Amino acid sequence: MEPLVLDSKTRLLVLTGAGVSAESGVPTFRGMNGLWENHPVEAVASPQGFEANPALVWRFYSQRRTGAADVKPNPGHDALVRWEQHLGDRFLLATQNVDGLHTKAGSQRVVDMHGNLFRTKCADCQRAPFADTSVHPSGTVPKCDNCGGRLRPDIVWFGEMLDPNDLARIGEFITRNDGTRLVFLAAGTSGAVWPAAGIVDEVRSVRGDTWLVNYESAANTERFHHFVQGLSGEVLPTLAKLV
Ligand code: APR
Repeated sequence: MEPLVLDSKTRLLVLTGAGVSAESGVPTFRGMNGLWENHPVEAVASPQGFEANPALVWRFYSQRRTGAADVKPNPGHDALVRWEQHLGDRFLLATQNVDGLHTKAGSQRVVDMHGNLFRTKCADCQRAPFADTSVHPSGTVPKCDNCGGRLRPDIVWFGEMLDPNDLARIGEFITRNDGTRLVFLAAGTSGAVWPAAGIVDEVRSVRGDTWLVNYESAANTERFHHFVQGLSGEVLPTLAKLV
């Protein structure tokens, strides 16, 4: 297999999805068959679901917080930390995962595209999101200290916009004009959720090289120059040649 060469002329953008956390024991969305305790995931991960039943939403996210608190990064996460240590500012990691495992592993240049399970914000006022590990498993909805409104997880739900600052950070990395060669690697993502699924084409539009590491073929596999089929925890540790 041809190695992914990471030398002093390379800048690397990595996109990760639920598959990268799967070997740590975090279930993928698709793996849950779109259901949580017989509720469609949209009912517990959308603004409409929150309006209809905020306590149910908090039960779902409390369970996810409790589950994610105990999980550990796997060799796929660790490989990305080594790549970042090698590349420094020529590395950026955009993740669709909200479980915080990249940060736990030691990654520093991370864009949490879909938010973070361990952050909370107010549904009713503009206060800044804050770190929060609290759980509300028994049908209560935590209240905002600032306005008395309803707190909610700081997650980008179905139907919500991504933070424009996060998209700008990814866009600037893609178009950075510093004489380095752009490489993009997507791992453990179904290529079905936008805008993440379109990053490969943005990279191609500036003539970047593109790699996909995934257990199954993704919805956009044919857009990549290289497809390595396998488990990210097994493929990533041996894929790159650091020179
Ligand atoms: N290694 C590599 N790939 C894997 C592994 C693994 N160990 N396990 C599963 N996969 C692959 C699956 O084959 C699948 O293509 O990872 C992909 C996971 O797909 P999804 O569950 O759809 O996850 P993702 O692409 O991250 O979903 C994007 O959709 O549900 C929303 O907001 C949620 O962030 C999520 C987004």
